[in-house]
Amino acid sequence: MRTKINAILFPSNPEEILGKTVTVCGWLKTLRNQKNCTFLEINDGSCLQSLQAILEEGSIDLSQMEKLSTGASVALEGKIVPSPGHNQSYEMQVTHIHIYGTSPQDYPLQKKRHSFEFLRSIAHLRPRTNTQGAVARVRNCLAFATHEFFQRRGFYYVHTPIITASDCEGGGALFRVTTLEPGNKDFTKDFFQTPTYLTVSGQLNGEAFACALSDIYTFGPTFRAENSHTSRHLAEFWMIEPEMAFATLNDNKECAESYLKFMIQKTLRQCPEDIKFFDQFIEKGLLARLEHVLTTPFEHMSYTKAIAILEKSHQKFSYPVKWGMDLQSEHERYLTEEHCKKPVILTDYPKEIKAFYMRLNDDHKTVAAMDVLVPKIGEIIGGSQREEREEILEQRIVQLGFKKEDYGWYSELRKYGTVPHAGFGVGFERLVQFITGMENIRDVIPFPRYPGHADF
Ligand code: 4AD
Ligand code: MG
Repeated sequence: MRTKINAILFPSNPEEILGKTVTVCGWLKTLRNQKNCTFLEINDGSCLQSLQAILEEGSIDLSQMEKLSTGASVALEGKIVPSPGHNQSYEMQVTHIHIYGTSPQDYPLQKKRHSFEFLRSIAHLRPRTNTQGAVARVRNCLAFATHEFFQRRGFYYVHTPIITASDCEGGGALFRVTTLEPGNKDFTKDFFQTPTYLTVSGQLNGEAFACALSDIYTFGPTFRAENSHTSRHLAEFWMIEPEMAFATLNDNKECAESYLKFMIQKTLRQCPEDIKFFDQFIEKGLLARLEHVLTTPFEHMSYTKAIAILEKSHQKFSYPVKWGMDLQSEHERYLTEEHCKKPVILTDYPKEIKAFYMRLNDDHKTVAAMDVLVPKIGEIIGGSQREEREEILEQRIVQLGFKKEDYGWYSELRKYGTVPHAGFGVGFERLVQFITGMENIRDVIPFPRYPGHADF
């Protein structure tokens, strides 16, 4: 039976591991030959740190030794003893070695540091790097913590469809799903007998379930065919979309703030080794930034107030500031990083720049929208209270140039037992960026999809 390296390096009870003979399996990170012995670093991805293993001369067969190199996969059997070195508390004295697979000289992950761009070109091997291993473990922690947060609050997890016939956000950035030959536009002959797309959001379907089960959330892949080449956009990303019935924008704000704080708290508790690594090598001051967010109440501000602040800021923005404009990342980051120096919840945006489903405010100019902006990222969450009044919803659909028939079922949720309800969407990769300090969104998802790239 194999023992995971994290169970050796971070044992709940050191007594149980010291002096024991165990087997560990993993990949060799480094190999140092000394006069009478060889030092190996073996890693199995269970934690950041590798286990140091010592092969004394004569303890294993020489012909085996020649096959060992960085990247080789092995099983090591040996005794766990206290380590005289500073870097680790325990090490292994190897008594037996089994080689699963050798790794020739051209193994790309030799000791030297590689750029993240280069590592994207070997996305099948990059999970073996320190950074990608740490990202994967934090990502896992955040996914699990997401379920924990909503389950504890009594939200039910709902699976909404991946293939849809409607554009929830009205942005038109849709990937078409079809079985027609290229050029054939006769959708009556298509698989679903109607044009279909990969979903840009599970919200509309989520609302149907919230208007039955009260509190639900979705957590799934989301697709947007925007030609964005930024460090904040992917063509395929994951979104978490809670939806609450009998709820207003204030409930939405409270839920979003508590959610982000819970995510930080959980990661600090469960991935301290990885967070320390990010703080040291990826973003100096990360830990302090996260602790600050965890302990300060978020700023609440209307869009109109934000515009006034931006106008008074005397900053040179590439997009000039004017009421009615859509905020760009530069404006969002100024507000959260420079002006407020903490996360900001912006509300009540002009109706023209937001989706049709958002609830019209009494001023008839703005809607009950909510964006959560955080330092480093800008918009991490977008949401709103939903328009629950059938007549107004239908007016908005028509005003925005959509067909009422296409949203018939959605309107019916208002016809039969309508309720005030609200929800939001968290960009999961932006959350992982926020928590790890990673600069580029392409480096926080295992196999990134973005314009021109769907390899692996
Ligand atoms: O603001 P968005 O477009 O909102 C919605 O889709 C709503 N239906 C959510 C809801 O109310 N249920 O997207 C939500 C979040 C954004 O704040 C952002 O974090 C992330 O999804 N996001 C992206 N992340 C990566 N790549 C992209 N191309 C993204 N587009 C949006
Ligand atoms: Mg948005």
